[in-house]
Amino acid sequence: MADPTVLALWGGPPARAEFLPFHRPSFGPEEEAEVVDTLRSGWVTMGPKTHRLEAAFREMLEVPYAVAVSSCTAAIHLALIGLGIGPGDEVVTTPLSFATTANVLVHVGATPVFADVESDTLNLDPVSVAARIGPRTKAIMPVHLHGHPCDMDALRDLANRHGLLMIEDAAHAIGAAYRGRKIGADSTAAAFSFYATKNITAGEGGMLATQRKDLAERAEILRLHGLSRGAWKRYGSQDFQHWDILLPGYKYNLSDVHAAIGLAQLSKLEKFMVERQCLWQQYDALLAGLPEVIRPAVRPDVRSSCHLYSLRVKVERLRWTRDQILAAIQAENIGLGVHFRALHLHPYYRERFGFQRGLCPAAEAASDRLFSLPLYPGLGEADVRDVVGAVTKVLDVARQHAFRSSAEGCSAAVTS
Ligand SMILES: Cc1ncc(COP(=O)(O)O)c(C=O)c1O
Repeated sequence: MADPTVLALWGGPPARAEFLPFHRPSFGPEEEAEVVDTLRSGWVTMGPKTHRLEAAFREMLEVPYAVAVSSCTAAIHLALIGLGIGPGDEVVTTPLSFATTANVLVHVGATPVFADVESDTLNLDPVSVAARIGPRTKAIMPVHLHGHPCDMDALRDLANRHGLLMIEDAAHAIGAAYRGRKIGADSTAAAFSFYATKNITAGEGGMLATQRKDLAERAEILRLHGLSRGAWKRYGSQDFQHWDILLPGYKYNLSDVHAAIGLAQLSKLEKFMVERQCLWQQYDALLAGLPEVIRPAVRPDVRSSCHLYSLRVKVERLRWTRDQILAAIQAENIGLGVHFRALHLHPYYRERFGFQRGLCPAAEAASDRLFSLPLYPGLGEADVRDVVGAVTKVLDVARQHAFRSSAEGCSAAVTS
């Protein structure tokens, strides 16, 4: 329900009568048929569908190995372990990301070293990365933020010169391409997400794509308790065989029910991408005249997956903060997201590593200004116009009036 706090500032009906959710998955008869087929097959945990999803991924990326897991977080965790990153190692990464990016480093005992971001794409800035590389640096972990590929040539050059591994958080970047090559196609390790809000979803799920046989083999063992034989092999029709514990693994396998949804979604990826690009262009055209926002950049040498349309609001031109603006747009019945608030400023990271403001000025500026608009297949032109109408309306007020909360006496006006 919309927060009535700020409606009082101008009164009148909200931009939409019905709440427009920030995200909605796009499912059809194909997903339903795959799931029903799986349920009727008698096999619901990791098995044939999961292996089909891996094969489809290998084909899409033209990579030799793809290992399906329960989340992108699991994929990155397994990549770190599989590549031997552990206590005492440093990994240079971006603060503008989801919790996963830094948490998994802590899980393996490594230290996150945050570098700053480029001011247009908000992706890792290779110049800042270079400055943060030290004797304990083991890897660089780029995140293709909002689906816009990082400057991979510059980052790979740095990695090669310093003998570093590269682990790509490609949670946002399925279908994206850098200089004609799909993200994940040439990677030591690239992790994708099938979480509910991603460009394709399996409800939950993830995929580790790699060029390295040794990493793929370790990940396959580690994703299922470190056992020598997965259930699909253990309970097959061949002779009974015991399994051995080869490593202290995890419960990170993907079920066939999830894989079934993922298979149907993957077959629609290109169609979804085109729809997203179309919505992106509509936002771009409608927001072009609004001087208080910076629209997301798309460099000419990439194909963005158009995962998130994230604006930066020029709060210095307004009398409200980003969070006040966000609350007001939500009160107009438009769902929004924030991707992301800088990781190094979250309580755990501040306290554990002593990070402070000033470490990554460009990321911090974005962290205070970003918010993402609804963008998903199925959204109509009228929806896009409603979103832009709400943003414009709120910014008009934020330009002219100081923010007043209901605690200061506005709520009566709302209820009347
Ligand atoms: C940049 C980034 N990395 C990793 C993840 C984690 O994905 P999952 O939920 O599949 O573990 C997310 C999820 O939102 C993300 O946005």
